[in-house]
Amino acid sequence: MKWQLNLRLLVLPALAALVALVGLRVQHSPEEPITTTPGLPWAAFQWHSVLEPAGNATAPTRHPLQPPYPHPYRFLLNQPHKCWERAPFLVLLVATGPADTEGRNSIRQTWGNESSVPGVSILRLFLVGLHPVFADALRPVLQEENVEHGDLLQQDFLDTYNNLTLKTLMGMEWVAKHCPNATYVMKADCDVFLNLDYLVRRLLLPPKTNFMTGYIYRNTGPLRSKAYKWYVPHEVYPNATYPPYCGGPGYVFSADVARKVYAVAQTLPLINMEDAFVGLCLHALGLGITASPRGLFSMVRIQYEPCRFARLVMVHRYQPHEVLELWPRFQDAKATCRR
Ligand SMILES: *[C@@H]1O[C@H](CO)[C@@H](O)[C@H](O)[C@H]1NC(C)=O
Ligand SMILES: *[C@@H]1O[C@H](CO)[C@@H](O)[C@H](O)[C@H]1NC(C)=O
Ligand SMILES: *[C@@H]1O[C@H](CO)[C@@H](O)[C@H](O)[C@H]1NC(C)=O
Ligand SMILES: *[C@@H]1O[C@H](CO)[C@@H](O)[C@H](O)[C@H]1NC(C)=O
Ligand SMILES: *[C@@H]1O[C@H](CO)[C@@H](O)[C@H](O)[C@H]1NC(C)=O
Repeated sequence: MKWQLNLRLLVLPALAALVALVGLRVQHSPEEPITTTPGLPWAAFQWHSVLEPAGNATAPTRHPLQPPYPHPYRFLLNQPHKCWERAPFLVLLVATGPADTEGRNSIRQTWGNESSVPGVSILRLFLVGLHPVFADALRPVLQEENVEHGDLLQQDFLDTYNNLTLKTLMGMEWVAKHCPNATYVMKADCDVFLNLDYLVRRLLLPPKTNFMTGYIYRNTGPLRSKAYKWYVPHEVYPNATYPPYCGGPGYVFSADVARKVYAVAQTLPLINMEDAFVGLCLHALGLGITASPRGLFSMVRIQYEPCRFARLVMVHRYQPHEVLELWPRFQDAKATCRR
């Protein structure tokens, strides 16, 4: 018995290190929407697959980059009770790779801290799928992490870059089924700097419905070269342009939108770009996106300046360990910078 325990103690860190190493190669890095050449004409063809009956998206003709959907993905880790006794003002859904325990820990201590905005009920959940190589080895690790923090949502799809849409839909499904009384939802990637205080106090009050905001991409379209990470084959999405959508690293919406997007997603062919797909859902629902004041959501990294960061919502391309480092200084800045 004793040697087994010791062995486990030895094996777990080694495994974690290995997983982290391989994770660097296998794990997706966060998406980055691509702007196409302006002035491309709208495609003359129809998006045929929309007309096919729902439930046939998994037919054998599905392109390998098209996430299988609808499909009865199962929750392997779930928090069905979290909203039973409260109606959070903001549900924060953070997309992370299953092996990235360290990143999640940094986020828990910084912008993901549920008590970071005094008097506002925030509920944080991390979204993970199955590691493409180490799913079995990571199962006990994730279970242990979940026992400690109770903030993991996992479904049984492969956690790959081209499956990110499934991750977002898992979050929408959770809000729709287990937290219908939330007011707002924010989907964020793990490599961002977030200022929830500013978001909640400046952008979200008073509460709204049929609302979504973020950094809006307009008149962009799919990248057709296989050489790109963001390649979207013609078979997956035939049109030359996407409807407007919010950049994937961080966008916010009222909780009713989560329910509506989840519902309409059951009837649309999925595409492998998570953020553009949410735009397609809004388009199908006839919902618009609300522009937010310039500069509040930055899709590119900008250098840390305390008072500038105190007056924006999100900056992309900050690794969790970098945020951990600047967070104490940022707390001071929030108090001293004039609003
Ligand atoms: C795709 O293109 C067709 C034809 O121009 C258009 O009718 C349709 O609305 C477009 N679909 C989307 C989602 O933009
Ligand atoms: C699904 O597609 C296949 C072939 O593409 C067709 O034979 C079948 O009838 C379709 N199923 C439904 C439920 O429409
Ligand atoms: C949502 O709020 C309604 C009315 O306050 C309440 O009856 C219901 O139980 C709540 N639902 C959940 C899932 O908490
Ligand atoms: C979250 O913030 C609260 C209030 O500032 C603080 O007391 C707590 O230690 C923080 N939690 C973590 C995990 O950092
Ligand atoms: C997406 O996940 C499904 C279900 O696990 C899997 O069959 C498929 O291969 C994955 N797709 C990609 C592109 O990784």
